[in-house]
Amino acid sequence: MCGIVAYIGEKEAFPIVLKGLKRLEYRGYDSAGIAVNNGEELNVYKKQGKVVELENFAKDKDTSGGTAIGHTRWATHGKPNDENAHPHTSDNEKYAIVHNGIIENYAVLKEELIQRGHVFKSETDTEVLIHLISDIIEKQQCDLFEATRQALNEVIGAYAIVVISKDNPNEIIAAKKSSPLVIGIGKDDFYIGSDATPIVEYTKNVVYLEDGEIARLSLDSGLTLKTIQNETKTPYIQELEMKIEALEKGGYNHFMQKEIFEQPRSIRDCMRGRLMLNENYISLGGIEAYQDKIFAAKRLIIIACGTSWHAGIVGEYLLEELSRIPVEVEYASEFRYRNPIIDEDDVVIAISQSGETADTLAAIELAKSKGATIIGICNVVNSTIARATDCGAYTHAGPEIGVASTKAFTGQVTVLTLISLLFGKNNGEIDPARFSRLMIEMNAIPEKVEEVLKSDSYIKEIAEIYKDSHNALFLGRGINFPVALEGALKLKEISYIHAEGYPAAEMKHGPIALIDEEMPVFVIATQDASYEKVVSNIQEVKARKGKVIAIVTKGDKDVRKIADHVIEIPRTDDMLVPLLATIPLQLLSYHVSVMRGCNVDQPRNLAKSVTVE
Ligand code: G6P
Repeated sequence: MCGIVAYIGEKEAFPIVLKGLKRLEYRGYDSAGIAVNNGEELNVYKKQGKVVELENFAKDKDTSGGTAIGHTRWATHGKPNDENAHPHTSDNEKYAIVHNGIIENYAVLKEELIQRGHVFKSETDTEVLIHLISDIIEKQQCDLFEATRQALNEVIGAYAIVVISKDNPNEIIAAKKSSPLVIGIGKDDFYIGSDATPIVEYTKNVVYLEDGEIARLSLDSGLTLKTIQNETKTPYIQELEMKIEALEKGGYNHFMQKEIFEQPRSIRDCMRGRLMLNENYISLGGIEAYQDKIFAAKRLIIIACGTSWHAGIVGEYLLEELSRIPVEVEYASEFRYRNPIIDEDDVVIAISQSGETADTLAAIELAKSKGATIIGICNVVNSTIARATDCGAYTHAGPEIGVASTKAFTGQVTVLTLISLLFGKNNGEIDPARFSRLMIEMNAIPEKVEEVLKSDSYIKEIAEIYKDSHNALFLGRGINFPVALEGALKLKEISYIHAEGYPAAEMKHGPIALIDEEMPVFVIATQDASYEKVVSNIQEVKARKGKVIAIVTKGDKDVRKIADHVIEIPRTDDMLVPLLATIPLQLLSYHVSVMRGCNVDQPRNLAKSVTVE
């Protein structure tokens, strides 16, 4: 959460940082600010609200200068207002900082600093850092780099920070622990971002800061790197693969809409070079290398949060059915704090779109400390989680900007399907004929997703009918139960309609009491092993006058007779239905959100990358 951007060089820094902040708004959008140094003055502009509010506010101000740091905030300590917005400055207004993370011991530090005469202007944890840094400079007469390094040794918590000084417009100091920070190396300039998206249009050469590292970006002496324990490090420069077009809406009204419609491509990309249809073979090199360990494990533990957790449950059904390996799925936030029984014989699969989620990362560290092997399924290449795992597979969905996850989810399910098929084949649990059939079906999924997307205007009509509902229920059985959970999550997060996902049969144990003629019930009723049972559940809803919107297999006649609306999806193997059934639910939420005038891509109170626990 929170996005950081910085620039130092010959160009005007303010517009570069402002543009970068817009790219990072998915990380938080309750206030934004920029500090810019023009060689004489350090001007700080900050505003509650989105980056565009800051842009309007700064229009008639002096934003000149070649060095700037910027921040877009998701509030933790202190409400969203102008004072709590970053950057924060020292008492003498000489130093400014932007920070992503949480300084856990801020209260103690703040108390000490107040006693030493520092005056605080905000309620944030961040402000202690800049007072601490200026305090060290004053006392020790050291430079900004050294003072920041020493200050970080006093801090407990997570941080990605960038600090500048009014007196030295030629350098920027950056450091990281647990929150991400990427440095872009231009020809005669440097860029910084919480991820590479603000950097990619200027340079492809980047350095991902590691935990405990502090960097000096100097126009005189270049990039130097140390640990906060003062050991010199050599920067490892990597080349970005990201393309700038992937960060733009490309003719769609919203990023979420674009990302829904990208799924035929993103699923295909995820399978490319892995699903070798002609050879009847699955290639997942990194993971296969750990296969013996996995087969020897008592069970697989999947950890994730949010939508990724839903993908994890789909993974549980897939892995147990196709490879007969026992699986447990846990919320990372629960796993990390419940003293889980885990040892070196365990294998953990961590799923994360962003690769930065604090709880997932902490759960990984815990499992690692007990000796477990960690497999990662991430979307963001080179993200912290991707680097913290022993092996893994990227989803290759491309940048996902809409806060509500869509193409990353189907990418995660695609990877989990490939893993299940690979393990099932290699441990002999899946018979060759079924394996081959599933390979063919999997290969056809992108085309079938394309077909589902053609129902967009029909789904929009359904959205129009139910857009004013106050509640909604989503039901599914077996592998489609997590699809129901995901459908409910999508609707509530972007349209603020209360929605619940349930295993269809569990409806009798509570939710049925809520059903009346006002209540839309979305049911995944495809022709699979539990079809008849789901049809009975639909009858139960109808008997109580609920409205049923059913997702059915193409050509279905029975459900059509009893449901209020049916949305057809092409026939596929039972185990692959989630990849298709999810799509109409994504479209439905999207249209409802637009019709209700909600901010589709940046729903209130949410952020895409949750780097605080
Ligand atoms: C946030 C996002 C969700 C996402 C969840 C987990 O809540 O809004 O879309 O599913 O975090 O994020 P991750 O990046 O770990 O998948």
